[in-house]
Amino acid sequence: MTPSDVKATLAFSDGSPSMDLPIYKGSVGPDVIDIRKLYAQTGKFTYDPGFLSTASCNSSITYIDGDKGELLYRGYPIEQLAQHCDFLDTCHLLLYGELPNAQQQKDFHKLVTNHTMVNEQMQFFLRGFRRDAHPMAVMTGLVGGLSAFYHDSTDINNPQHREISAIRLIAKMPTLVAMAYKYALGQPYMYPRNELSYTANFTHMMFATPCEKYEPNDVVVRALDRIFILHADHEQNASTSTVRLCGSSGTNPFAAIAAGVACLWGPAHGGANEAALNMLEDIQKAGGVEKIGEFIKQVKDKNSGIKLMGFGHRVYKNYDPRAKLMRETCHEVLEALGLENDPLFKLAMALEKIALEDEYFVARKLYPNVDFYSGIVQRAIGIPVSLFTAIFALARTVGWIAQLNEMIADPEYKIGRPRQLFVGATARDVKPIGQR
Ligand code: CMC
Repeated sequence: MTPSDVKATLAFSDGSPSMDLPIYKGSVGPDVIDIRKLYAQTGKFTYDPGFLSTASCNSSITYIDGDKGELLYRGYPIEQLAQHCDFLDTCHLLLYGELPNAQQQKDFHKLVTNHTMVNEQMQFFLRGFRRDAHPMAVMTGLVGGLSAFYHDSTDINNPQHREISAIRLIAKMPTLVAMAYKYALGQPYMYPRNELSYTANFTHMMFATPCEKYEPNDVVVRALDRIFILHADHEQNASTSTVRLCGSSGTNPFAAIAAGVACLWGPAHGGANEAALNMLEDIQKAGGVEKIGEFIKQVKDKNSGIKLMGFGHRVYKNYDPRAKLMRETCHEVLEALGLENDPLFKLAMALEKIALEDEYFVARKLYPNVDFYSGIVQRAIGIPVSLFTAIFALARTVGWIAQLNEMIADPEYKIGRPRQLFVGATARDVKPIGQR
């Protein structure tokens, strides 16, 4: 962190002494005011629920400029990564800070591939779940359960353990997601095929059966790989902050990532792709394109509690660059699979057009986010709606683990412990039950 020549001065209207606060400059983006000594010097906390103006850490992994609609992983624009790299290159970049050269690429692919199988006991663990359990409930359990199987990589303070657990998590997530899917279907699990690419192997574990030869479809593999790249990291979002906070207690990496999976599940975060598709299906059932006007009216009515899922973002207030790339993939996939006339896709396009022109959305800078299109792509590929967020979790695992490892390696790292403004009852005595 580079100190700035400028200082912030905090003054109080009650005559208490003012305080100078240091300011730090990042390589790009807003400066931060360092308030770490505030409580010690003034006896006051800052108040910022929802972290609207609070940086919780310094990081060199991902940079977002919400006004420009820019997303950079380690300095590289997401558009270039989506075009020139695959998901494992992106994982290498996020984990180690650089894109791999040819030899590193070969070694990294081999390393990840060597860890794609999960302990055979995992399938018995899965059997404890109802077949109709939500995949994210299953994933939260399975990922947390990894810490019961891989005892040699659970010490978060040991750099080698952190390295092995990172590779294990990246390698095993596709296997676990596919197992959760096969379990719900009642089909046999498919073991990984290590001669395939990371993403082709995932489609094999998802869609193959032992009865027939399976050939991965290139368009599907490319589309899924792009979904993985676009979802790989997104700086200090809710699930990443959850992973950091959880890991800050020194818990093992599998437990910390399981906490991230649980957080991602929510409809305001990773669950939005599922919620967006469910919303489209509901409008379709109610009458399709003709019902859009009525639906938009409900969205604009604050008392309805209805949101246009897949629209809006805390940081992107211009457009979501991931949405632009996903929209492109969406068209490619639907065309390649002969689904251009898919009624749900037509509905989505009509909804997008109307919302983009509507004063309510324009005034609030609400644009489609990545989840608006990723749901349509996944549905076209044959992934069931309830599995969408699990796919997001698979992709985000590398971001979570890179951020976790960055935090642990930071000499300034401390257990995360937010403070509060207490507004409840002051001290009082317990009365005997008859007097309460
Ligand atoms: N539909 C209708 N109104 C909306 C929407 C929406 N999707 N999003 C925001 N608004 C309104 C909101 O009601 C508020 O209106 P007003 O100023 O009149 O009170 C205004 O826009 C500002 O919204 P906000 O709630 O202050 O924005 P936020 O930054 O707290 O919320 C959000 C961001 C993503 C949670 C929210 O836009 C949302 O719930 N969107 C739908 C869910 C969704 O698609 N989430 C996926 C995010 S992208 C994937 C990821 O990175 O996890």
